[in-house]
Amino acid sequence: MKVLFLHILLLLTLNAQSAYESGKKLYIKNGCYSCHGMKLEGLHKYPYLANRAKGYMSYKLKRFRSKLSDNQQQEMMIPFAAGLSDEDIENLSVYMNEYVEEKNKERYDDSYKTHGDGGS
Ligand code: HEC
Repeated sequence: MKVLFLHILLLLTLNAQSAYESGKKLYIKNGCYSCHGMKLEGLHKYPYLANRAKGYMSYKLKRFRSKLSDNQQQEMMIPFAAGLSDEDIENLSVYMNEYVEEKNKERYDDSYKTHGDGGS
């Protein structure tokens, strides 16, 4: 019984991770970053998307896909939502909602500490 439970838990976590990963790939592939930023922080006048409510994100994407927008600025989104499937929208919404900033792998080593006053 315990084993079965762990197995289900594992499947659930793997599934959750893959939605995030697929969402990330879609985000890159569809060029969303060119307006909303690589860190989903929003560039220029475009809104940030990181950690926003999943339901709202998918609601908006589905509306854009149906060619519905509330103002002229939003019309820009319509072509970008046009080709998305329900599953794509689900995955993108998971990615936006759960977004965690990845640390740049090539960071400077900040563990180095200087000693003394530099001797001057
Ligand atoms: C050419 C620039 C551009 C690209 C590319 C783009 N967007 Fe947008 N996005 C916008 C604009 C403009 C709005 C509307 C902002 C407003 O409401 O004033 C918007 C709004 C949104 C919203 C609703 C946010 C809100 O606050 O209501 C979501 C979700 C979104 N975009 C997701 C995406 C995704 C996912 C992609 C890639 C498939 C994408 N966008 C690609 C410009 C862009």
